[in-house]
Amino acid sequence: MVHFTEEKATMLATLYARALDARREHPLLGDTAADEAVKRIDADFSKMGVNSDSAASVAIRAKAIDDRAAAWLARHPEAIVLHLGCGMDTRVYRLDPPETVRWFDVDYPDVVELRREIYPERPGYTTIGSSVTDFAWLDQVPDDAPALIVAEGLIMYLQPADGAELVRRLVGKFPSGHVVSDLFSSLGIKVQKLNPVVRRAGATVHWGIDDPHELERFGLRLVSSSDASHWATPETVRLLPLGSRLALQVTALVPAIRRMGRIAEWDF
Ligand SMILES: C[S@@+](CC[C@H](N)C(=O)[O-])C[C@H]1O[C@@H](n2cnc3c(N)ncnc32)[C@H](O)[C@@H]1O
Repeated sequence: MVHFTEEKATMLATLYARALDARREHPLLGDTAADEAVKRIDADFSKMGVNSDSAASVAIRAKAIDDRAAAWLARHPEAIVLHLGCGMDTRVYRLDPPETVRWFDVDYPDVVELRREIYPERPGYTTIGSSVTDFAWLDQVPDDAPALIVAEGLIMYLQPADGAELVRRLVGKFPSGHVVSDLFSSLGIKVQKLNPVVRRAGATVHWGIDDPHELERFGLRLVSSSDASHWATPETVRLLPLGSRLALQVTALVPAIRRMGRIAEWDF
């Protein structure tokens, strides 16, 4: 049986969430590769705190980040992609970029080892097993093209000083680039134990960001920001389970709650 603890264990929960979504009659994301992976990984997914509503919210977040990343990549077909804290996410297969894109999936070594067992290789695709804040990994990445940096469910797990240093180094490395990431607000950090995935994994989130302009101090320029009630497109909302649709409507009415989760994009 695979064994991951704390923040690493959360990536099995988000994988399972996308698998559950793929099993629905009308999936939001339709990540069938996630479902195949879940069937091959020996883990007790039922104990990870994921239900149909949380699965829907993970699928919505993944779709929202996919759409943003795909839109930027379509304009930069020669880009370098850094997918940080990739976990077992199949984003590279979902977006299926052309071979001119050099894509790097980065996560801790044992997470990357599991990826290599489960997912096939593909041209232009490399996995790097390292903490994103042990910065020597950056030497494995070329710096001769604009970079797309995607981080989903990662930033909140970093210590703020480490996260700031990571952003500074990324901005300093490439000629230009674009960052797509989700964020937790400071309230999201305070109430983290209400999040069953975080609680059951025994994980701790540290870095709350109330205003995505805060990252401009480290060399980024904010280009867009949307809170959790705006991630789903109208077509997606129609496909949501009833409970999730109601939760979304309630969330939209309470600014502090709907701002607990945010997806932002920055240029540099
Ligand atoms: C909530 S999971 C998200 C995984 C994936 N992005 C997804 O959406 O399924 C958090 C991921 O961040 C990774 N992570 C947390 N801190 C990290 C660090 N310092 N370096 C590399 N990966 C990290 C964990 O190992 C885990 O895979």
